[in-house]
Amino acid sequence: MKEENIYPIFDRMLSREDKEELLGQRGVMIWLTGLSGSGKSTLAIALERELHQRGLLCRILDGDNIRCGINSNLGFSAEDRVENIRRIAEIGKLFVDTGVITIAAFISPSNDLRQMATQIIGADDFLEVYVSTPLEECEKRDVKGLYAKARRGEIPHFTGISAPFEAPEHPVLSLDTSKLSLEEAVGALLELVLSSVNNKGEKI
Ligand code: ADX
Repeated sequence: MKEENIYPIFDRMLSREDKEELLGQRGVMIWLTGLSGSGKSTLAIALERELHQRGLLCRILDGDNIRCGINSNLGFSAEDRVENIRRIAEIGKLFVDTGVITIAAFISPSNDLRQMATQIIGADDFLEVYVSTPLEECEKRDVKGLYAKARRGEIPHFTGISAPFEAPEHPVLSLDTSKLSLEEAVGALLELVLSSVNNKGEKI
């Protein structure tokens, strides 16, 4: 990288602790991984509402949204998926460093990708949650009609059909939305988040 002639000002900026004190909360990344249609976005939206109601500031980063904006130049090749997750992790880190509870909803289909995100964000601030809804259920739902297209060969490298998905090895939480109600799944997420972030900006 071209870091020559670059003079970062990090040491003169207000710190993460200053931001967390102002907000009265601790920044953390809740990283939802799972197949398309597994329920990541639905869970992210419901969790954000619950946390917001409790006076906690959140930010959702979601695959389809981010791919319409900063990552609109990226596709689904293995190389582009790395760049997709790298940029998202860098953006996520900015939010976490601002004290925001950040909820990422990306397929992020391999351990290497999630490992890269963990390294960028920092393991202490990274909670990996596996939305483990089985492929059969995601395909049955087919909310966006993409599985049908992928089966017809109209979408190359479609995760679960023509591109791999590797289940996380040690997620802090697994949620199968074919077995749990939305309320149950969000309840489990809330418990996880509230146990790692209290309203004094301290880790408990
Ligand atoms: S990731 O694999 O790079 O992490 P990301 O979460 O950003 O994926 O985007 C996934 C979304 O893009 C899916 O929910 C789906 O709507 C859409 N999509 C379009 N093409 C594909 C594809 N080939 N594989 C997976 N998702 C795709």
